[in-house]
Amino acid sequence: MKELMKRTHMCGELRSENTGEKVVLNGWIAKSRNLGGLIFCDVRDKTGITQAVFDDKVPQELFERADSLRSEYVVGISGTVRERESKNPELPTGDIEIYADGLVIYSTAETPPIYIKDDDNVDDNLRLKYRYLDLRKNEMQKNLTFRHRIAKTARDYFDENGFTEVETPMLIRSTPEGARDYLVPSRVEQGSFYALPQSPQMFKQLLMVGGTDRYMQIVKCFRDEDLRADRQPEFTQIDLEMSFVDVDDVISMQEGFLKRLFSDIMGIEIKTPFPRLTYKEAMERYGSDKPDTRFGFELKSIKDKVENSGFRVFDDAAASGGDIRGICITGGAELYTRKKIDKLIEKSKSYGAKGLVWIKTGAEITSSVNKFFSPEQLSEIASVFDAGEGDLILIAADRPKVVFDTLGFLRRHIAGEMGLLDGKKYELLWVVDFPLFEKDEETGRLKAMHHPFTSPKEEDIELLDTEPENARANAYDIVLNGVELGGGSIRIHDRDLQEKMFSVIGLSDEEIQEKFGFLVEAFKYGAPPHGGLAYGLDRLVMLLADLDSIRDVIAFPKNQAAQCMVSDAPAGVTTDQLDELGLQLKAKEE
Ligand code: AMO
Ligand code: AMP
Repeated sequence: MKELMKRTHMCGELRSENTGEKVVLNGWIAKSRNLGGLIFCDVRDKTGITQAVFDDKVPQELFERADSLRSEYVVGISGTVRERESKNPELPTGDIEIYADGLVIYSTAETPPIYIKDDDNVDDNLRLKYRYLDLRKNEMQKNLTFRHRIAKTARDYFDENGFTEVETPMLIRSTPEGARDYLVPSRVEQGSFYALPQSPQMFKQLLMVGGTDRYMQIVKCFRDEDLRADRQPEFTQIDLEMSFVDVDDVISMQEGFLKRLFSDIMGIEIKTPFPRLTYKEAMERYGSDKPDTRFGFELKSIKDKVENSGFRVFDDAAASGGDIRGICITGGAELYTRKKIDKLIEKSKSYGAKGLVWIKTGAEITSSVNKFFSPEQLSEIASVFDAGEGDLILIAADRPKVVFDTLGFLRRHIAGEMGLLDGKKYELLWVVDFPLFEKDEETGRLKAMHHPFTSPKEEDIELLDTEPENARANAYDIVLNGVELGGGSIRIHDRDLQEKMFSVIGLSDEEIQEKFGFLVEAFKYGAPPHGGLAYGLDRLVMLLADLDSIRDVIAFPKNQAAQCMVSDAPAGVTTDQLDELGLQLKAKEE
């Protein structure tokens, strides 16, 4: 083995002040070139890049070794820091170079399959397959360090506030968190399965019953659901639970955390308390339970202005208890030509919309429904939106869910197209008073919107007997720039109330026993009032780093098909392994 040439500095550290110092750098060759009597090479580590130069005054053998350097060779280089002749203002170390007098080659390297440069344009799967090469980019290392600092700040803050980090098991019983479970077959008890936790929900509640009082954990969660830019099958939560608290206690503890995080990590002083919107208000004004409030375009109802107008689309929607709402895109009239509006309509269809009515305002008012409405009527609709010269109003008429989903999508999509989504602006808010239940689209039955241990608001408890669909929960989500950063609730600790909850969602005693038996049992022996919340750590890091995908803040993420490209998982196993588990595979369906 080659002797280690111990480094004196990192590759991103040296500046003009170091001129004249004898130094040693360790790292990877980012680039090397031989210009006759001079060999230039750039050495890279996670902190940056420094240029080193070998000239023909060094011993011939050393010069030849330097000449053999290729990209991604791992080296130690010694020499003296000197001022560069042609400075590189693009590099923090660009004023200096190392006048080299020694070289150790620790490893040679084959030509790497991806080019290691921050703004490359490599195919995603290739990047993920060779993630260890991708990670050599300074940008990626910066993301990992940034994530580490956020996690550390979380641990520090919650530690200072009396929280204990406790690990909860990864091999558990399948729990009802809403998504599909990842299952792990048992060898000892053939035919039985563990599930990987979708979250530590039940265990953190057991910790409260166990007297832990304040719990936190930075924890992996597993959900077998369709992937998106902000969703991974395995992701990380900052998970929290507190005893003897109400909604305001949880919220103010979290505001303290986010304030600290923004101050320490971003150098930004944010104002607390954050605005709170009720779920109803969020839906009615923004068409979303995670509203992005960095820009306007708020939803307005025009139902009372257009009733019995003779326009079939509006009349039908009104008659069937639907909604008629719109958004006003300030200055959007010129930008959105008919062709572009048709594109918006096409995109809206995936939210269930059957079409969009548009109105362009100004000295002359034009619309897709000129035939049904007089200019005066159109002006009156426009006045609901305070529309002015050159604005575009888009209207959807349908079931409330379709109207909200469509307009909620459109306002953010259009804001994106108009360049209004400022990644450096941070709008934090709480959405509170979520409905306790929602209708299961498949079965039509009521199910818990959050989870069945979420407590109803005190004043809505009586609705459980009469109109449970209108009962509101002590549940809250924290939203940053239109992304759900975290969510939680105050839990039920009262056995009678818990039983009532179960009966509303139609769970039989056997089902209760089967799914939640151990928690219900625990509650018999003295449960404190408690509540908590969990943040998506990946999303938090993504937003603060102003990135578009959580993949960029996860060292080894899954690809779009939920595959780990590095280890090539999932993969088959041997018949012996299956036999041991008592499993047999069904023939694949074609
Ligand atoms: P919830 O299911 O809302 O709550 O999850 C909390 C937060 O975790 C993040 N998140 C995800 N991030 C990346 N990929 C995913 N697939 C993914 N799914 C969720 C989101 C979300 O806000 N036990 C409750 C919390 C509680 O009640 O205390 C829970 O898990 O940012
Ligand atoms: P149609 O009668 O289907 O030709 O639609 C007439 C106009 O109404 C077109 O501009 C459609 O885009 C629009 N439209 C159709 N359905 C809806 C709807 N549910 N909400 C809003 N506009 C609609």
